[in-house]
Amino acid sequence: MVTDLDLRTPAALADAERWTAHNYHPLPVVIADAEGAWVTDVDGRRYLDFLAGYSALNFGHRHPELINAAHAQLDRLTLTSRAFVHDQFADFCRGLAELCGKDLVLPMNTGAEAVETGIKVARKWGYQVKGVPDGQAEIIVADGNFHGRTTTIISFSTDTDARDDFGPYTPGFRIVPYGDLAALAGAITPNTVAVLLEPIQGEAGVLVPPAGYFAGVRKLCDDSNVLFIADEIQSGLGRTGKTFAIEHEAVVPDMYLLGKALGGGIVPVSAVAANRDVLGVLKPGEHGSTFGGNPLACAVGAAVVRLLATGEFQERSARLGARLHEGLNALVGKGVLAVRGRGLWAGVDIDPALMTGRQVVERLAARGVLAKDTHGSTIRLAPPLVVTEQDLDHAVAQLAAILA
Ligand SMILES: Cc1ncc(COP(=O)(O)O)c(C=O)c1O
Repeated sequence: MVTDLDLRTPAALADAERWTAHNYHPLPVVIADAEGAWVTDVDGRRYLDFLAGYSALNFGHRHPELINAAHAQLDRLTLTSRAFVHDQFADFCRGLAELCGKDLVLPMNTGAEAVETGIKVARKWGYQVKGVPDGQAEIIVADGNFHGRTTTIISFSTDTDARDDFGPYTPGFRIVPYGDLAALAGAITPNTVAVLLEPIQGEAGVLVPPAGYFAGVRKLCDDSNVLFIADEIQSGLGRTGKTFAIEHEAVVPDMYLLGKALGGGIVPVSAVAANRDVLGVLKPGEHGSTFGGNPLACAVGAAVVRLLATGEFQERSARLGARLHEGLNALVGKGVLAVRGRGLWAGVDIDPALMTGRQVVERLAARGVLAKDTHGSTIRLAPPLVVTEQDLDHAVAQLAAILA
């Protein structure tokens, strides 16, 4: 008979707690291996992964084509630095540029680095192309944004946990309410170089702005010679049923910021994609990263682009997402206050009188479904796009059982 004393989870959790900074509050699950939408912990318990690495695992754990691409590259060449060119570089960049419909790509590693790159490019464009006086460039962002954790990025966060005690803060950002076009119009000045927005605010609780908002943003940017930067790091690459979430609004940004799923859940790969008149402002020596665009990253990233080019994952996300949202909407009034999102991405507001989001995700984990809470009583569901209909129905049934 297996007793609690035989389980490996408690010791593994204690060890992790003992040796690491406590900048996360993970669920008490220690994962050992995974395949597709399922993970297995060190004690052999299986869970459905309904977080998918915050959308870094859009293609599931260990997608065979991505793993094959990584293995093949590991056996040939892993790193050169950008001091030299390697034979995987152009292929990845061409594929990604074509997927984005843009002239050029600048590869980096983490999402935050892509955001930092976008900020630097927009500022330089502002000074060199738009003619903004030196040091005066302004970028407009939204209330409730999440763009990463660097000191500049948290300077324009409105989340006190993310921002407090990390000053002094980088100037040059104006914050307006998300989804409010009049506020955005009022914030644009002759020194505005860019508007930086998430097409759907993930961390804020999967908030979808009012229909027509992004068409309005596009027009305001065009009218004022301002760049529109879409942070598609979490919302992009199939998550919402289209390659980019902004496509739902039939809007094309000047710059795409990409990350997470671009690395296939294997390596950190991020990128900025834009046309030559924007990304072309950078000259040698002005920006870079030792690991950015490395051969392993490019081999995996190119395989990701090939998967997305089939359209299969976008189609799955749209079709299965409709099923997920139908199942979740049936819980409104039964412990759920509201459901938001698009495709295989949902923010679910739990009735706070019933329990907190944390309590919900702990109970879901005990029933074999891994998800993440945010902002008190909201939970986020974002399974890998390879999830099956049965898996979706199973997860929704577990949530229903908890709330019953
Ligand atoms: C919209 C968005 N932008 C940027 C980031 C930062 O990405 P990373 O954690 O890879 O730095 C995230 C991460 O959650 C995100 O959701």
